[in-house]
Amino acid sequence: MGSGIAQVFAQHGHRVTLVDVSQEALDRARRQVEKSLTKLAEKGQIGAGDREATLGRITTTTDLSAVAGAGLVVEAVVEDEAVKRRIFQQLDRTLAPEAILASNTSSISITKLAAATGRPEKVIGMHFMNPVPLMALVEVIRGQATSNETTRAVVDLAGSLGKTPVEVNDFPGFVSNRVLMPMINEAIFAVYEGVATPHAIDQVMKLGMNHPMGPLTLADFIGLDVCLAILEVLQDGLGDPKYRACPLLKRMVDAGWLGRKTGRGFYTYA
Ligand code: CAA
Repeated sequence: MGSGIAQVFAQHGHRVTLVDVSQEALDRARRQVEKSLTKLAEKGQIGAGDREATLGRITTTTDLSAVAGAGLVVEAVVEDEAVKRRIFQQLDRTLAPEAILASNTSSISITKLAAATGRPEKVIGMHFMNPVPLMALVEVIRGQATSNETTRAVVDLAGSLGKTPVEVNDFPGFVSNRVLMPMINEAIFAVYEGVATPHAIDQVMKLGMNHPMGPLTLADFIGLDVCLAILEVLQDGLGDPKYRACPLLKRMVDAGWLGRKTGRGFYTYA
């Protein structure tokens, strides 16, 4: 999602430094942004010159200290609390005291990430939806110590990016994934129990409920490893067995069938 977030900020005039540990991932991110901007330009949603101008505002690097002068960092690394905490500690040492540290986490506690820093009042959730350039929502999550000032700044910023910010409090899965993931998990249980094929389940939800994607197509799109990680956060954090991940989901993740990104999930991808 990092490339989509970088793209949206750059489209709205911000200079963006995109950081990853892997140069290959950075090259892939740039190609994704190029492709997305081409699509938007073809449809007339951005002007001809905007594509090049947007690309010109994005620099890529494997050196995290390159963000030292940033006013805001949006972290979008793997859904692993220990990794995120380590990065937040490093960013806290690197950034100016007034800088805001936001996380694009889909379910991990903002309060816990904030506690890893010396600036918990400046730590907040800024949860974008995939595909970031197209989706209107930014779920803004206030941690226990997040200040009104930080919340206001992030709400205003999200609005200035053409998104609709919605404020929520810091509970496992927030609102988006507390509601979405049980539906996806239930769809996986329906496959597991032989209720219907993945295609049939998706058809029911698409045609019957007007969802743009069926839940299994969406799970492949999000990444089955991400879905599993979120369900585990829900179960651990809320302690209710209703969030228990379907054994089929676990088995598919064990097999490395993670959805679109690995070419195989509930469907196969060329
Ligand atoms: N940039 C620019 N254009 C893009 C794009 C991108 N990143 N991704 C897709 N598009 C374009 C497509 O190329 C397509 O263009 P054409 O019309 O020229 O072919 C257009 O958008 C529409 O796409 P599609 O025709 O493929 O299909 P669609 O009408 O169904 O729209 C969609 C695609 C917007 C992704 C829609 O299917 C949708 O809204 N799906 C649900 C997405 C969703 O639920 N996202 C949230 C996931 S949860 C999450 O992100 C957070 C989490 O914590 C897990």
